[in-house]
Amino acid sequence: MMNKILLVCLLFNAGSSLTCKWMDRDFKLYSESLLALLKTMKNNSTDDIDLDNVVFFPNELYNHASKESHEERLHFVAHVLDEIYALFEENQTHASWPESAVEDFLDLISQQANGVRGCQALTQHKKSHRKMTMYFKRLSRHVLQHMDYSADAWEFVREEVRIHLHRVHLLASS
Ligand SMILES: *[C@@H]1O[C@H](CO)[C@@H](O)[C@H](O)[C@H]1NC(C)=O
Ligand SMILES: *[C@@H]1O[C@H](CO)[C@@H](O)[C@H](O)[C@H]1NC(C)=O
Ligand SMILES: *[C@@H]1O[C@H](CO)[C@@H](O)[C@H](O)[C@H]1NC(C)=O
Repeated sequence: MMNKILLVCLLFNAGSSLTCKWMDRDFKLYSESLLALLKTMKNNSTDDIDLDNVVFFPNELYNHASKESHEERLHFVAHVLDEIYALFEENQTHASWPESAVEDFLDLISQQANGVRGCQALTQHKKSHRKMTMYFKRLSRHVLQHMDYSADAWEFVREEVRIHLHRVHLLASS
């Protein structure tokens, strides 16, 4: 009898650590809300700025992450969400969107990051994502700071972040 109960418990735990309901159910809803919100924040009148030799979208980091374990992918996703959060805390005096949009955005993205963290195993060694951190530093310094946090600079950042949210969503559901 004892053995059977133990077995049931073990199976149940194994099941819940392999899939986390929150990732299956809620992650997608947060991604959709964030993407919809970002869409409303678009400014059609900004000038396209050519920063192609300053910041490259880190496609190769996503390609690399897609080959990692589920656990490492979740860690990568949480890292990107944290970086986006930090970026959106920077000076938005001249950004095109109202302050309330930023508050909603920060609120949603921190909840999404917390949800992902709740689905991660606590004990595993995790890789650092230094190259991703460097990329976000370049956005902060060479785009926002360098262009005095202008509407154009923020529009560039908004579009980069939109692609990140899309890629992160694909990675999380793969
Ligand atoms: C910006 O352009 C898009 C697509 O052309 C359009 O759907 C949207 O209404 C425009 N937004 C504003 C504020 O003009
Ligand atoms: C959109 O961007 C243009 C160009 O930078 C700027 O002049 C305008 O104020 C911005 N619109 C809003 C609503 O901030
Ligand atoms: C935000 O940036 C604008 C324009 O560069 C500047 O005038 C303002 O003082 C800055 N605000 C803060 C809190 O740093």
